[in-house]
Amino acid sequence: MRIIVVGGTGTIGQAVVQELAPRHEIVTVGKSAGDFQVDITSTESIKNLFEQVGAFDALVSTTGSLHFGPFEEMDESHFYQGIQSKLMGQVNLVLIGRSYINDAGSFTLTSGILSHDPIRFGASASMVNAAIDGFVIGAAIELKPGIRINSVSPGIVQESMEALGSYFRGHNPVPVARVALAYSKSVEGLLNGQVFHVI
Ligand SMILES: NC(=O)c1ccc[n+]([C@@H]2O[C@H](COP(=O)([O-])OP(=O)(O)OC[C@H]3O[C@@H](n4cnc5c(N)ncnc54)[C@H](OP(=O)(O)O)[C@@H]3O)[C@@H](O)[C@H]2O)c1
Repeated sequence: MRIIVVGGTGTIGQAVVQELAPRHEIVTVGKSAGDFQVDITSTESIKNLFEQVGAFDALVSTTGSLHFGPFEEMDESHFYQGIQSKLMGQVNLVLIGRSYINDAGSFTLTSGILSHDPIRFGASASMVNAAIDGFVIGAAIELKPGIRINSVSPGIVQESMEALGSYFRGHNPVPVARVALAYSKSVEGLLNGQVFHVI
């Protein structure tokens, strides 16, 4: 398969590339690194990406940012950061990418555990992650027949603990290689409209 991994230069994306590369042709996409570059907050940039990369069999997205901070201090602009990047960035990869995907292809997006297991400072993350999972189950039943879509919802990743561990007290970190297996299941299996929880 020809598989695009948007965010393939990041912590989770690199593990996904390592898992899938022995069996498939991988196109790694980052914001500043990778085989190709894209800014998922810009539909023009996403269109340019697909024009450059062309047809593909699977798109994996392991990207998107959002604001973490005290709820008391958050205003509308803080929520729109995550809406524009992690939510609509990934949704737009699907909306635009569906014109380039081969028959029997698949999309796999990334949400996260905070959709249903909230932490302090995570109100925007909980909202965005739940919206991504909702998009996936809704889009799955209307995508062109044969095209699949799933999301992977990881817990805090072991390899991210140094940077993020203080936000996730009491959580059980997941090795990134195990998170990568869920993307393999989505891309190489036949499930559709699923949220793969990796905790
Ligand atoms: N790490 C965790 O513990 C964890 C747990 C649950 C969910 N998640 C979610 O998983 C996703 C990936 O997390 P991660 O820890 O692997 O992140 P990461 O290491 O920071 O990697 C981010 C990746 O996204 C790319 N990127 C950043 N901004 C972009 C933009 N505007 N347009 C296109 N690409 C962009 C980066 O490209 P460059 O390398 O070129 O900058 C990089 O490839 C995020 O949505 C995160 O919320 C992470």
